[in-house]
This record gives sequence, structure tokens and C-alpha cells, in this order.
Amino acid sequence: MEIEEIRLPIGQGIAGRVAATKEILKVNDVIGFPLFDSSWDQKTGYRTKNILAVPMLARGSELVGVIEAINKKDGKFDDYDGSLLMTFGSLAATAIRDVERIVEREKFIESVVRSFGETIDARSEFTSGHSRKVAAYAQNFGSAMGLNNKDIKILYYAALLHDVGKIGIKDSILEKPGRLTSEEYQYIKDHVAYTRNILNAIDFPDDLKEIPQIASSHHEQINGEGYPVGLQDHEIHKLAKMLSIIDVYESLTARDRPYRKAMESKDALEVLLQNRGTSFDPELVDVFIEKRVYQTELRMHKRVNVDLAIEYILDVDGHIKGKDIGKGRVHNISQGGILFSSDIIFPYNKLIEVIVYIPDGRIKATAQVVRCKEIGSSERFEIGLRFVGLPSQSQAKLKKYLQNFSI
Ligand SMILES: [Fe+2]
Ligand SMILES: [Fe+2]
Repeated sequence: MEIEEIRLPIGQGIAGRVAATKEILKVNDVIGFPLFDSSWDQKTGYRTKNILAVPMLARGSELVGVIEAINKKDGKFDDYDGSLLMTFGSLAATAIRDVERIVEREKFIESVVRSFGETIDARSEFTSGHSRKVAAYAQNFGSAMGLNNKDIKILYYAALLHDVGKIGIKDSILEKPGRLTSEEYQYIKDHVAYTRNILNAIDFPDDLKEIPQIASSHHEQINGEGYPVGLQDHEIHKLAKMLSIIDVYESLTARDRPYRKAMESKDALEVLLQNRGTSFDPELVDVFIEKRVYQTELRMHKRVNVDLAIEYILDVDGHIKGKDIGKGRVHNISQGGILFSSDIIFPYNKLIEVIVYIPDGRIKATAQVVRCKEIGSSERFEIGLRFVGLPSQSQAKLKKYLQNFSI
């Protein structure tokens, strides 16, 4: 029989009582004991005779759970059994709390690293989402290479952080809508030195110590012609070599820049092959292609096609004057945002207020413009909004709505 989860409130039943009182409960004859629930015995055919239930206490008093021992092999549960199980319970409780603390610390580090990545991604409208996408490739590339979890994590974090040094590059150069002069290009190359300085200032835990070195070597090439150092093949960290491949692939295939169109995947792979053995480690390029790492799913959320009404409020002084209230129809929606069309241009990165009308009600959100692209030459624009402030109620409504689409 499959083991099911049984839930009971604190105070109810034997385990619930122990949780409430934090005291040992010995029941040497369950028959007639008022807190004993015999329905499970009836369902399963098992026969409970006696129960020893103890609280699991971390650091002497903090309740983590309850352990029950059922049916002592010979005789009845005594005080010695009670204190033995109690000791075991507190050891387990302390271990569980320690693991929780480690997991919390990991989550904290990950959230800080991700927000660094988001910070730099928000900076540039041309390369928006670059760090996040490179990081998505990194995870796939890492598993395609058979790396262990620790190295996959290092590569993932290094990917999120690799361009963080662009924070030190002037907008006039970083966002220049045209080709860079060679002087400007030299200047942009400094971003890796900034990346190194910024990351060196972080006291990474031992298992993540290599991140600054890897992140700041993503423009090194195996023929020694990369920058900032011009490291030779054997001097470049393997994870940095992987990073350099996905960085280039992502940049080439990312959406159109003012000065060039986005490349098709096959053309970008051709670029990797042309530079296989000169810029890039040949074996790594082979794995990237053979294991189809380039087909990594880059979307954060699955989208569903829908037709819903929306209203938005723009309050900007750029392209749209004054306080505009607009209406439109959503084409697709995900937990992360919406796509719709409009005959006005929405400025990139602009925050707007939006209301989406779903059958069950309204979803109100603050959203950021992450896409504004003319549809053909129709003077209509496809607008992508990413939800940035979704109140928990709206979030729950949206989740429930999206569940209808079995995604
Ligand atoms: Fe870079
Ligand atoms: Fe990059």
C-alpha cells in the first residue's frame, strides 16, 4: 500500500498532543486511549498495540517535529526508551535545523548573485537578459559536459556575473547605437578588469573561490590573443573556456542591435566552428554543438496564447506625453509577463502599471517594458512587458488561471 501523507492539527491525536506539550507520551495500550485514531489500522490491517511519542527539540526547546515508535518488540515502552528516543529526536532536530540554515545561506548567495546579473541586464536595452541567458546555457553546458554539481554552480554563478564590470562603462559607449571606434572598443574591453575588481571584493566561500578568476577570463582565447591578460590555452580555466563559447553564441544570436541583425543559430554555430581551435577550445565547441547545448530553453516561463483585454497607465515624459491610459489585447501571457501589440512605442525598461482582465477578475501589476519591436513595417509594435511587482493576490490568480492550460 502506498504511504500517504496524514495531516493533523497541533493538539490533535497523539503526535499533535506531543507537539503541543513538548512532552513524552507513552501509550502502552492504545485500545481505549482517547487520542488514538484507529481508522488507519482499520484501513491497512496493521495492528497498533503501543506507541512512544517524543518531541524533536532543537537546542533544547525549539520544536521541529515529533517521532513515534510503534509496537515495541517485547514488553512495554519504559522511561529508558523514552529518553533514548528523545536524545535521537534532538540530534535529528538539530541536524535538520543546520541543513535548513545551510539551504537558507545558499539561497541568499544565489539571490544576491542573480540580482547582480539582473542589475547589469537592466542597464542595457541592447543586451537585455544577456547574463540570465548565458547562465541558462551555462547550466545546460555544465550537465552536457558531465560536470559535478559544484562546478555547474560555479559556472552558473560566473555566467551571471561575467559582465558585471560593464557597470563601469559609460552609457555613451555601452549604449552607442552604431559601430564602436577602436578607441571605444579598447575602453569597453576594460569591463573584464572591472568584473575582476568587483568580484574580488566579495568574500566568496571556499567552494566558490574560483568565480572571480573564471568570470573575468571570459574574453581569453586559447591562442593567447584574448584579453585582458592574453592567457595561453593551458592557463585558462576550463569553465572560463566554456563561458567564452556561450557568451559569444548568446551575443551573436541575441535580438537585433541597432548596427546589426541577430544571427540565425546555424550561422552563429558556423562562427564557433570557424574559430574552433583558435579562439575556442575545440572539444568544448564539439560538445556545445553535438549535445545541442545551443537549444537551451531561454524563456523563464512557459507562455500561453490567449486573447485578453488589458489597460495600462503610462506616466512618462519620453515618447509618450502626459498620463496616458491605453487599452489593448494580450496575445500571450506567462507567470512572468505579457505580450501585446500597440501603435505607440513603449520606451525600453520603462515601468508601467498594467491591468489584465482574466475571466476570474483582474490582475494588477507593475511591469517593465522588455520588448518593443515593429511588426513588419506596419507602424504597429509588439510590446513585451515583464511583471516586476505582482501583488501576491494577483500572483495567485494568475497561477490559477494559467493552470487551465496544462503547461
Ligand atoms: Fe564580456
Ligand atoms: Fe557577455
